[in-house]
Amino acid sequence: MLTLTEKQKDAYDRDGVLVVPGFYSDEECQVLRTRMAELVDEIRSGSENVVFSTTGQTHSEEEYFLTSGDKIRPFYEDGAFQDGQLAVAPELGLNKVGHAMHDLDPEFSRFCRKRALVDLATDLGYVEPLLLQSMYIYKQPRIGGEVVWHTDHTFLWTEPQTVTGFWVALETATEENGCLWCLPGGHRQPVKSRFRREGAGTITEVFDPSPYDSDGAIPLPAETGTLVVIHGQLPHWSAPNRSERSRHAFTLHLIDGEAEYPEDNWLQRPDMPLLGFDSPPGF
Ligand code: FE2
Repeated sequence: MLTLTEKQKDAYDRDGVLVVPGFYSDEECQVLRTRMAELVDEIRSGSENVVFSTTGQTHSEEEYFLTSGDKIRPFYEDGAFQDGQLAVAPELGLNKVGHAMHDLDPEFSRFCRKRALVDLATDLGYVEPLLLQSMYIYKQPRIGGEVVWHTDHTFLWTEPQTVTGFWVALETATEENGCLWCLPGGHRQPVKSRFRREGAGTITEVFDPSPYDSDGAIPLPAETGTLVVIHGQLPHWSAPNRSERSRHAFTLHLIDGEAEYPEDNWLQRPDMPLLGFDSPPGF
């Protein structure tokens, strides 16, 4: 069964982005929010506390990040810590949790392996779809940080480029609480940089140092359950959340197993091969 109409396919080819309201039900979104809260409760009893920021990282944070591709790990907001201590309740200080819930938790696996998403991946031309990365993004009231202009291909490189981002609003996203913005048609431009491993750390290889021309940027406000499909080369961004309302979202990134996945991509799963849309064994 095909999911997209010809009109939607044409729009996606033209814009590099597609907004599909109601792709997930309110109930499905609620199940995921509840499950994440349970997982965070489990995490609280552990000691994995690290600040996540796209504007700067220290070495130990980097190590923690680089080994998170096959785990369920929390990352906190810059403003959540004071003098090395978590200054707010954990559930209010989290920036995101990642990056393998889709293969490690049955509820997340179900959400990511929804039949309509399998069909959508087929529509998008995937031959051997592989579920690479999942993130639960909090965008907390008042302290939810900015995610700077980027393309997902920069971070999840394949040769040729095959990454697609599936972004799901688990709560209503507006310009006030930090919805996505993108540059329609920008996916036809070459990407400006590549973030990759080098030695024990990472570097950003810059191909084009010019900033994105954000004049043509459009906001992508989304009701709960809306799916935003984002081409791997589409520049996108989200503002800090200065409002009183959280903006929970979930993202899944897909690649094609037919493409080459470089060994210097940040996300490596040495002990856990990537899986497709068939459920992990035991789920
Ligand atoms: Fe992104």
